[in-house]
Amino acid sequence: MAKEIKQDPKQPKLDMARIPNHIAIIMDGNGRWAQARHLPRVAGHQQGMDTVKKVTIAASDLGVKILSLYAFSTENWKRPASEVSFLMNLPIRFFNSFVPDLVKNNVKVTVMGDISRLPKKTQQAVYDAMKDTEDCNGMILNFALNYGGRDEIVRATRKLAEQVQAGDLQPKQINEKMVDSHLMSAQLAPYTDPDLLIRTSGEERLSNFMLWQVAYSEFVFMKEHWPDFNGELLKKAIVEFQQRHRRFGGLKNK
Ligand code: FPP
Repeated sequence: MAKEIKQDPKQPKLDMARIPNHIAIIMDGNGRWAQARHLPRVAGHQQGMDTVKKVTIAASDLGVKILSLYAFSTENWKRPASEVSFLMNLPIRFFNSFVPDLVKNNVKVTVMGDISRLPKKTQQAVYDAMKDTEDCNGMILNFALNYGGRDEIVRATRKLAEQVQAGDLQPKQINEKMVDSHLMSAQLAPYTDPDLLIRTSGEERLSNFMLWQVAYSEFVFMKEHWPDFNGELLKKAIVEFQQRHRRFGGLKNK
């Protein structure tokens, strides 16, 4: 059950009956946040981890069903080794300190991405968190780790090609539903597609995040850097989402 949330009288009202089921966030601006404070970039990631905790609880309290967070992309390996190493340790520190709160809030952890390339300790932390929260049936906190939208589509294509090669599938039988069910997001059914995609720090691009699934998502770009994001800004993005008219290629509802 969603909890009562305080509302700012100056803002358009948040409609608690129309909370998006699936929110995806590109958590950008950690480095710039740190640089603006003359801190090392990793200080931004550290602060960003605390923001993940706050925003997870805020989203769960609002009644969001799925929160997908882009934590590490297939392209992030190009960063300096020291930064990659810090980012690989973050899930360990995050889950070590936060799994009890996740369980208390009935939040279940899932992951999209090829985690077999992550350090063994990071993989273990992820598997432990999924195991510890497997019985939770509230919000799903879905981390994208070593995830890329194109990589995900290539892997799905490969699986379908293998079925064709084995003679189990005719090419003409392949449809959108079948592709959907071979993507890493299939585990989020029936809410595989984000209703709302938020990107922080003023950049307005997708950076290879959930390319298939965001076909009809509403995009909200916010100027704040991720470490400065919070539950109030999440509500602001949802209010913006609620002002939009989603038509999914059809005509506006009368
Ligand atoms: C983008 O900021 C952020 C990332 C690549 C890492 C995201 C990670 C977190 C928010 C930490 C939380 C993670 C877990 C697993 C709890 P950037 O470094 O690209 O910022 P910049 O564009 O300002 O340089």
